[in-house]
Formats: sequence, C-alpha cells, structure tokens
Amino acid sequence: MTVYFHMKTTPNLFVVLLAISSIRVLGCTRVGFYEKTCPRAEIIVQDVVKSAVKANYTYAPGLLRMFFHDCFVRGCDASILLNGPSTEQTATPNSHLRGFEVINRAKTMLENECPGVVSCADILALAARDAVIQTGGTFWEVPTGRRDGLVSLKSEAEDLPSSRTPAEDQIKIFAKKGLNTEDLVTLAGGHTIGTAACARFTDRLYNYKNNHGPDPDIDQVLLLHLQTLCPHNGDHGTRVALDTGSVNSFDNSYYENVRAGRGVLESDSELWTDPRTQRFVQQFLGDKKNHELKFTKKFGRAMVKLGNVEVKTGNEGEIRRVCNKIN
Ligand code: HEM
Repeated sequence: MTVYFHMKTTPNLFVVLLAISSIRVLGCTRVGFYEKTCPRAEIIVQDVVKSAVKANYTYAPGLLRMFFHDCFVRGCDASILLNGPSTEQTATPNSHLRGFEVINRAKTMLENECPGVVSCADILALAARDAVIQTGGTFWEVPTGRRDGLVSLKSEAEDLPSSRTPAEDQIKIFAKKGLNTEDLVTLAGGHTIGTAACARFTDRLYNYKNNHGPDPDIDQVLLLHLQTLCPHNGDHGTRVALDTGSVNSFDNSYYENVRAGRGVLESDSELWTDPRTQRFVQQFLGDKKNHELKFTKKFGRAMVKLGNVEVKTGNEGEIRRVCNKIN
C-alpha cells in the first residue's frame, strides 16, 4: 500500500507509522486455506481425532461442545483453550469440557510439520467436524484461516446458555451471534451424542419450579430412568446420555426424543414446547433414512455458520505456538 501526503499536511512520522501499523488487515475463512502452507494439516488433525475417539469415545461430544463454547465467546478464536486463573475454562458452563489434550496433541504435530502456520482456532473447528464424523455424521468442508485470540475472560463465558434457558432466550442468544432459529434447532441436534451431569437437570426430577414434584411434561419412563440414575441426594456429577437409546451415534433420534417428552435437559424440551422452534424440530422427524440425512447435512451447514461467528482473520490476533497460552 502506498500512502501520499501533501507537504503542508505531512503528519509527524511517528503518527504515520502508528496509523499504518494499526490498520486491521481482514481476510475471510476459506476451504483449503492451508493447501500450500501446510498441505497435510487437515489429515493430521483427522488422524489425531480418530485415534483419540477410538481410545475414548467421550472425546467426540467433548470436542463438539468445546467448539460451540469457543465460538459463542469472543468468536471462534480458541480463547476457550487458554489456561489461567480466570480464563473462559474456569467458568461454570465450561466445568466439564473435555478434549483439550486432543487439540494440544494435534498442535504439537502441526508445529513439527509446519511451525507457526496452523491456528488453534482452526484445529478446533476441524476437530469438531472430525469428531462428528467419527460418530456417524456426514462430512462437511471446514473453511479455515482463523487467527487465535489474545483474550479469554471467565466472566464472558458465564453467559453461555444453560440447561434452564427458555426457548425464547435461546433464540435471542443465537440471533445475537447471527444464527437463526433453524440454526439453533439444528445445532442443538449436537445433543444426539454425549452426556450431561445429573446436576444439570435434577430439579426437573424432584422439585420443578418449586412444585416439590417432577416436571409435568417429562415422559414417565424417562422420569423413572433418570430418577434411578440420579437419586435425590446422590452424586450430582454422574453423567447421563442426552440422547437416550443412541448416545453413541450421530442420528436424528434426539428430535424423536424431544417430541416425545424425552429430552433430558429442560432446554431440549423447550424446543418442542415453543412453536417457533417446534416447526424446525418437525422437519427432522419421520422416516428415519431421509430425515437423518436431512439432519446431518443441515448440521454441517449450520456448523459452517457457527464456525464463522466473529472470527479473527488477516493480521488480527496471532498464530499461537502452543494452544493453551498466548505467544
Ligand atoms: C441453547 C443451546 C444449548 C444449551 C442450553 C446447551 C446445554 C448443554 C448442557 C447443560 C450440557 C450438559 C453439560 C454437562 O453436564 O457437562 C450440554 C452438553 C452438550 N452439548 Fe449443549 N447446549 C446447547 C447447544 C449446543 C450446541 C449448539 C452444541 C453443538 C453444536 C452442543 C453440543 C453439546 C454436546 C456434544 C454435549 C455433550 C458434552 C459431553 O458429553 O461432554 N450444545 N449442553
């Protein structure tokens, strides 16, 4: 870039340099960003995720959720990966996140292969896709070129939606990130894999909205099942499948459960109770083969949208050398 100044208006050199150095060069994410600079980047991430999930299935839901929680706080910039006394990781909604070691492993391998090139934010986006594939989801291309953020604050992560967030607020929270109601319902389908701690829903089993009894809308069979797994004064850390009956496979049965009052979290049940979200749940119900494909394809598209939330590109942020601390 060439900058011309008229002699009379030439500002002091320091100010000029300062202005030029603070110009934000913005880019955008695109498929194949590392094609030339690190051609094996995607394969390396895929291999690491594949062997991690094979050894321990819980990494798959862990990585998917970690990506969501990263993108909703300061955008998809790997701020969730930063260690420290009051970083996002220490916020209550992030207390059970898992998969950090998988990302770190991939980063170490990528730094050996092409140092300083692949961002942690991209590794997380690719890992989330690969985790879904490992559980039976449909492949989607992940645009890359994200840069890593420099800031991570516990206080900002405390606002992530919780198991008690009503549909109306879920819609608003997603809209603030540029995601519509269909995106919300589609992405909530991520609950087709993984588990929740009893603590997230025991109120529904024993004292729903201070009624000294269970949530009247919960299916009776599910209620007994959950009460057995999560006794009244039992261990609130016990984990229970979010998609009863098919927790290990990325299919559309989550939506069947939501319709039947078998959503484990109140936030899941809400998607059926509220007509604005119910109509999108409905599109994933019915004849298994077609609707499953519809869901998994739409899920990939919605993940691309999620992956573009407030991304840093160009010369913003940095490419971290290790994912858990800034350079
Ligand atoms: C308003 C929306 C959402 C709410 C209120 C919500 C809430 C929750 C809660 C409370 C848990 C249980 C956490 C625990 O006990 O450790 C959970 C788990 C999970 N969530 Fe969500 N979630 C939402 C959206 C999403 C989205 C958009 C995704 C992914 C695209 C996602 C993926 C997951 C996964 C995979 C798990 C299982 C984690 C594991 O097994 O380690 N969730 N969610």
